[in-house]
Amino acid sequence: MAEIDVASSARPNMLWWQRGIVYQIYPLSFQDSNGDGKGDLNGIRQRLDYLGWLGVDAVWISPIYPSPMKDFGYDISDYCDVAPTFGTLGDFDELVAEIHRRRIKLILDFVPNHTSDQHQWFLESRSSRDNPRRNWYIWHDPAPDGGPPNNWLSVFGGKAWEWDAHTGQYYYHAFLKEQPDLNWRNPVVRKAMYDVLRFWLGRGVDGFRIDVLWHLIKDDQFRNDPPNPGYRPGDAEHRRLLQRYSTDRPEVHEVVAEMRALFNEYEERVMIGEIYLPVERLVSYYGLERPGVHLPFNFQLIHAPWNACEIDRMIVEYDRLVPEGEWPNWVLGNHDQRRIASRVGPQQARVAAMLLLTLRGTPTLYYGDEIGMEDVFIPPQRIQDPAEKNEPGLGLGRDPERTPMQWEGSPHAAFSTTEPWLPVAEDFHRRNVKVLAEDPRSILTLYKRLLEVRREHLALSIGHYAQRQCKGNVMVYERSNEAERLLIALNFGHDTERVQLPGAAGKAVMSTHLDRAGEKVDANSVLRPDEGLIINLA
Ligand code: NOJ
Repeated sequence: MAEIDVASSARPNMLWWQRGIVYQIYPLSFQDSNGDGKGDLNGIRQRLDYLGWLGVDAVWISPIYPSPMKDFGYDISDYCDVAPTFGTLGDFDELVAEIHRRRIKLILDFVPNHTSDQHQWFLESRSSRDNPRRNWYIWHDPAPDGGPPNNWLSVFGGKAWEWDAHTGQYYYHAFLKEQPDLNWRNPVVRKAMYDVLRFWLGRGVDGFRIDVLWHLIKDDQFRNDPPNPGYRPGDAEHRRLLQRYSTDRPEVHEVVAEMRALFNEYEERVMIGEIYLPVERLVSYYGLERPGVHLPFNFQLIHAPWNACEIDRMIVEYDRLVPEGEWPNWVLGNHDQRRIASRVGPQQARVAAMLLLTLRGTPTLYYGDEIGMEDVFIPPQRIQDPAEKNEPGLGLGRDPERTPMQWEGSPHAAFSTTEPWLPVAEDFHRRNVKVLAEDPRSILTLYKRLLEVRREHLALSIGHYAQRQCKGNVMVYERSNEAERLLIALNFGHDTERVQLPGAAGKAVMSTHLDRAGEKVDANSVLRPDEGLIINLA
């Protein structure tokens, strides 16, 4: 597989994380190199040819640190090492060197809100009330009735407070009880965590995706969260409350600004925040009075109803809300969400790919979406995710979107030589990288082509965006720069649509069906079922 020279499309006034495309790897499921059924760092290294061939600019790897794996790496017991299941620090250094040799950037996951309950810090903190690390976590006396200090709920079900009989206080955990929250009001904690960032930035990491950034600071008065009028039976239990006091406190922005100052000490490092908030709140993480993150992850495409006019409205609104001078971003999927092909169906997954890769802002792809992987049914005895185990049957489990990457039609999809930690999808014989890379009409070919077209036409990556029309199932927008004007017309439905394209006729750059390149497109035109078209108005 030939490599693309990513740097050749560089523009001096735009940064790599603005021009580029981020690819998320869930390391347990990408490639196993040592036959234990779990992916690892050397496995990722073996697959770098593929990432070069696909044409991604940056790779974000979900946590690789030592962890009891209660939340699959998001429960960290040592921030400055690599979990044996993923390899060693030496393997990590080799991976960094190899990735950089290919001019791909490497982004790691930073999990500042909570540690594992097995982290040395927490072991010390819980050992006695007068331990110097007591105040590193959030300890609170019981309420007068002996119950938890307030009504806050855990994202993984049940109360967010765990009683510690040994020291006679509760500790707070926004997620599992094995994931105690750090006390970010304590400056010593901040310093320790900033040292962690320096440890990895000094090793050559190009940026971080920061886990649950909006959770870091909780209300100093520990006020009860109010009921959520939007809660419906069948929703996750924590949705009973609005997390008004347990998350998104104004003081969090002070922490974000401190982190940003640290990032600024290094050259061109990117700071991405994982933030699930309504868009008006989300954009405040760009920083209002103080500097914020470069990219507060924008998950709107994950939650929006798959409807042309809804999505059109959302894009326009987001475009309006992103502060002047800041850079937008878009995400179609991640390791916590149902896969796009399962949400919208395999045909519309192609339209979604064209949308993601023609919008203004940095796109993040989730591994496997480029081959159209769907959610995989997990038999009860193979369920891993605590989100499913704690609140069964509500569809909260995240195993279905975390199954092994499908590389070939050979046993275990060439992900591993043994039965993997999660089952491989049944369709792996036909849905795999090897088969789809050779098929000129496959979704993988479509993704690869879209990445090329985005790189060839700078109007798509860094040009202006303008809304053009939205009618029924069809949405049209324009991307332009000094050199060219491109129209993107997307059919969100399964029927043929006649469209009146604004402006003069042009030439098709590409279709999601991968067949109309170079064709003349009239102002009065037709989109086939599930078709998206990029048209050069020249
Ligand atoms: C967000 C991560 O993406 C998710 O996988 C994890 O369970 C929670 N944060 C807790 O760390």
